[in-house]
Amino acid sequence: MRITVLGSSAGGGFPQWNCNCRNCSGVRSGTLRARPRTQSSIFVRGDEGADGVLFNASPDILEQIRNHPALQPARAVRDTAVAGVVLMDGQIDHATGLFMLRERSTPLPIWCTDPVAEDLTEGNPVLRVLGHFCGVQRQRIALDGASFAVPGVPGLHFRAFPLSSKAAPYSPHREAPVPGDNIGMLITDSHSGRSAFYAPGLGEITPALFDVMSGADAVLVDGTFWTDDEMIRLGLSSKTARSIGHLPQSGPGGMIEWLDRLPARSRRLLIHINNTNPILDEDSNERALLAQHRIEVCEDRMTIEL
Ligand code: MLT
Ligand code: MN
Ligand code: ZN
Repeated sequence: MRITVLGSSAGGGFPQWNCNCRNCSGVRSGTLRARPRTQSSIFVRGDEGADGVLFNASPDILEQIRNHPALQPARAVRDTAVAGVVLMDGQIDHATGLFMLRERSTPLPIWCTDPVAEDLTEGNPVLRVLGHFCGVQRQRIALDGASFAVPGVPGLHFRAFPLSSKAAPYSPHREAPVPGDNIGMLITDSHSGRSAFYAPGLGEITPALFDVMSGADAVLVDGTFWTDDEMIRLGLSSKTARSIGHLPQSGPGGMIEWLDRLPARSRRLLIHINNTNPILDEDSNERALLAQHRIEVCEDRMTIEL
């Protein structure tokens, strides 16, 4: 399979439009060695066929499609390589791009859990709004461990795992989480048996989830924040990383410690990186520490072949 990173940033992108933190101002002025990044999304296809699955539809989706000619194979006057969209949650950075796909001539196939479908019908009613355009062919992601395939994308199957993270602020369960608000996805190539685990929003790793991660050849996991109090220390928020559903990389019980325990063969990648995170600075000590731990930092346009 081939995974293409369309957007490696968390909500807001990098640089964020209204932000003058060290990273955002440094990348804007060219004084920091760092790459701009668009918002959180990957495209995955098997070894046969041009079409694939779009994981999340970011507000930057039109730019992302323009940046990747493979997503527009031009086999007809109207065409796309996106056979279906799979949503990991109902947050703005993962769902707003659905509005931009409204010109389709057939209903857009969207796989999501029941709580996400509810949030995207009520709190942020994009699924209802799309009903006035191309329409939506909604497919239910079950949380019973059953695997599913996406028609038109041969050679891949998918299994969802409920995660402890956070629903969007417009969700009735923002402060009372229910299973399915956020999921991680095990993506398996049916022919080679190789697999990747994708979880851009991951607040807590349980032993059962760690077993799933350990079985994957690559993990692409929550890289939002370096420290739990990153936003508080910068004076940008009063909330910790964990309280908004993101496990920080550093410190006891942090992501680095978990990734260190994976089998030696596992490729470890951080994705959904917030613009405040020091790992975006390619000359930072934090970035050097990740390299020592064999942890990669996703960037836009990166491809992962498995
Ligand atoms: C998150 O991952 O915590 C959210 O997507 C933040 C946001 O985009 O508002
Ligand atoms: Mn997000
Ligand atoms: Zn910033």
